[in-house]
Amino acid sequence: MEQSMGADRPVVRVADLESFAGQEVCLRGWAWNRRGSGKVRFLQLRDGSGFVQVVAGEQDTDAESFERMRHLEQEAAVEVVGRVVRTEGKPVEVVACSVVQLGGSGGYPITPKEHGTEFLMERRHLWLRSPRQQAILRVRHRIASSIRGYFDDLGFTLVDAPIFTANECEGSSTLFATDYFGEKAYLSQSGQLYMEAAAAAVGKAYCFGPTFRAENSNTRRHLTEFWMVEPEVAFMDLAGDMELAEGLVHRILAEVLEHCRPELERLERDTAPLEAALRPFARLSYSDAVEILREAGEEFTWGEDFGGGHETIIASRYDRPVIVHRYPAACKAFYMRRDSDDDRLSLSMDVLAPEGYGEVIGGGERATDLAVLERTLAEHGIAPEPFDWYLDLRKYGTFPHAGFGLGLERTVAWVCGLPHVRETIPFPRMPGRLRP
Ligand code: 4AD
Ligand code: MG
Repeated sequence: MEQSMGADRPVVRVADLESFAGQEVCLRGWAWNRRGSGKVRFLQLRDGSGFVQVVAGEQDTDAESFERMRHLEQEAAVEVVGRVVRTEGKPVEVVACSVVQLGGSGGYPITPKEHGTEFLMERRHLWLRSPRQQAILRVRHRIASSIRGYFDDLGFTLVDAPIFTANECEGSSTLFATDYFGEKAYLSQSGQLYMEAAAAAVGKAYCFGPTFRAENSNTRRHLTEFWMVEPEVAFMDLAGDMELAEGLVHRILAEVLEHCRPELERLERDTAPLEAALRPFARLSYSDAVEILREAGEEFTWGEDFGGGHETIIASRYDRPVIVHRYPAACKAFYMRRDSDDDRLSLSMDVLAPEGYGEVIGGGERATDLAVLERTLAEHGIAPEPFDWYLDLRKYGTFPHAGFGLGLERTVAWVCGLPHVRETIPFPRMPGRLRP
């Protein structure tokens, strides 16, 4: 634990206070809440690592500080010097000797009363300080680190994909275009094509970064900027891809359940469905999934893609994630490999989360044959020039390979039990939201 000296006392984080019981320490943080009367005053102090109650009394606290406690505004930055007191069965408290204001906070806009989502979104930079948002940030961090741990432990190499690209990956209708010194460039929709190149170099590669979709629709599952982890593995087939995806979700859930109990409690997340998801996932072909929809009374034409509502119906049959595989090639991207048993199908898969969260992972085997790829590019109406380099991968040692993309925000929404992805990312980007 790092300690600097503040006013000759160790400077301590709230999370570490327990081990300083009986000692005088220095705390630095922000005033969350205060109350009190003539003789005793209380301050809820937060420092990012936790919350602690600071108690000021006329005997213990110098007169100036005692008076100051009465005027501290919500979110004022403060330094407290005081004694750490532990009482049986209660969280530790700090009895203040002195309280100094480091930065005032007059008129802080987010008061303890209820505010609407729009109001809070406009003040996202301040809203992040609230206990609920802190909890989400921590769960997101844990998920990101468990993702890295999973792939690193399996011998993957992290290979960063570019953000500026000359080619599309997931369909031209959701491309953000920008000028690149007189040439048209796009913000990357996916690092996948680059990971295919990387898989031929290092065997098992993954990228983990922001991706962009110009999806001008307001849904609870879509952002215009979101984070995706994309593994790509040489000589892996669809079955291996599904196993890799299942293992990743299990690792994420196990780590969150082990390390983030206080955060899940703060979010009032029922953990039973997360524990249930630690069991083997259900697996279901697209055609069988269509049957489920029809049994549920949906009029659904074989060959169409599932919408969010369809996914909810399919997933509601299971109390754990379900992997839907072998979608019709026509509803997937150009790079999907065809099923040699049925040419209408692609060797693709989506992982659908339970509780109505829908698709969190999409992936599959990639087409390996140059002529097939050239044809499907043409069928999709995609100009082949920007794909020169990608087609090279089929000219020089083409190899079977597979991979997938997991959307971080949809995963955070599911794990935290949030109704909308907008709270899963620190500064969300959606249609109509570019600030703060
Ligand atoms: O299914 P998608 O579009 O697949 C790909 O991009 C592949 N190239 C991935 C690959 O095989 N390497 O996106 C993958 C995942 C989705 O399952 C979803 O979790 C997330 O990315 N996602 C979004 N998340 C938030 N907002 C959006 N607009 C999203 N679009 C996709
Ligand atoms: Mg998808």
